[in-house]
Amino acid sequence: MDLERRAWLRGIWETLKEILLQKILTYHLRSSPLVLPSHLEGLNVIVTGATSGIGLHTARELAMAGAHVVMACRNVNAANEIAQQWRQDAYHGRALNVKVMELDLLSLSSVRQFAVEWDQHLKSLHILINNAGILRMGERQECSKDGVEQHLQVNHVAPALLTLLLLPSMLKATTWRVVNVNSVTHHWGMVELRSWKSRIEEHKYSGLKAYGSSKLVHLMFLKALASNLLDQGCNSVQCVAVHPGVVTTNLVPGVQKKTFWRFEPSEGARSVLYCATSNQVVDKMVKGFAYYSSNCKPAKVSPQAAKMEACLDVWEATLSTLDLDINYLRFKLNPSCIRD
Ligand SMILES: NC(=O)c1ccc[n+]([C@@H]2O[C@H](COP(=O)([O-])OP(=O)(O)OC[C@H]3O[C@@H](n4cnc5c(N)ncnc54)[C@H](OP(=O)(O)O)[C@@H]3O)[C@@H](O)[C@H]2O)c1
Repeated sequence: MDLERRAWLRGIWETLKEILLQKILTYHLRSSPLVLPSHLEGLNVIVTGATSGIGLHTARELAMAGAHVVMACRNVNAANEIAQQWRQDAYHGRALNVKVMELDLLSLSSVRQFAVEWDQHLKSLHILINNAGILRMGERQECSKDGVEQHLQVNHVAPALLTLLLLPSMLKATTWRVVNVNSVTHHWGMVELRSWKSRIEEHKYSGLKAYGSSKLVHLMFLKALASNLLDQGCNSVQCVAVHPGVVTTNLVPGVQKKTFWRFEPSEGARSVLYCATSNQVVDKMVKGFAYYSSNCKPAKVSPQAAKMEACLDVWEATLSTLDLDINYLRFKLNPSCIRD
């Protein structure tokens, strides 16, 4: 059986297991609050895609716990309305500290602009949650303005650039963490290291496969980033990828119907919040990286992602797509690995 078919079948199996077991495996989490009031005071957090679904609940819970939350969204009008409402609904006698900033992941220039504005206003970044994502099933292949297939752009290339550009801000913080809202479907993804700017033959294209592949390469990128930062002497590195569960959200247009086996968005946000805030996550990290499942427990990554060499190949392909030098970290970060 070829590699692609094997990955596909394994992905289906892992996803089915999640669907069948997620409610049972998270039963104990139902009543326990993950983030407590005032727990996160003084921390700056960015949540991408905070206008809907998992991102919306994640951003709100973090703000309720006292963090200063930046909602990085493409639909700024919708985000401002949500933020306005949250400020009015004071929590424990305090208005939520939220701010909206524009970010469209389909445009790398929007990502660069976001980073410039961030640097102008804020000093250190404690938690970056790369949550925004897309899944376009049954659609034709579409590319971004930057010439990258849309799943790869929104779910991997653009958040990778955002993470790299915000690294200096994160390194200013005593502790910092990057959380990527990933997916169990990374198991059915394939790493194709041909140029990510070339289109694939239309009859070979599937939105579902492109989604799984974008999640896989982002997980591998994050793992390589953590390892490279450690090699540069940045011992504070904490990178986590997390599967939130199968959740009723707007991710798949037209499939918002609630079913008993799916999570509500608030339940989907639980593992993300846990990975963003729990100290226990650090104990489970290997070379600065961990992958968690929706039950807030570490889980196995796909066999491709388990190989560090393959992750480093993805790292190189990502930097090349972004037109960044392979030694980007060395040029950009040293000696800023040391806090000021
Ligand atoms: N739902 C699930 O079962 C499930 C399972 C595994 C993983 N995930 C992951 O969870 C994350 C959150 O998804 P969700 O389920 O909460 O879906 P959702 O309700 O559709 O939320 C996705 C968010 O991403 C934003 N977004 C989409 N394209 C963007 C772009 N070009 N630039 C900036 N923001 C953009 C959306 O903004 P707009 O409102 O402007 O479109 C929205 O705020 C995704 O990464 C997804 O892959 C979800």
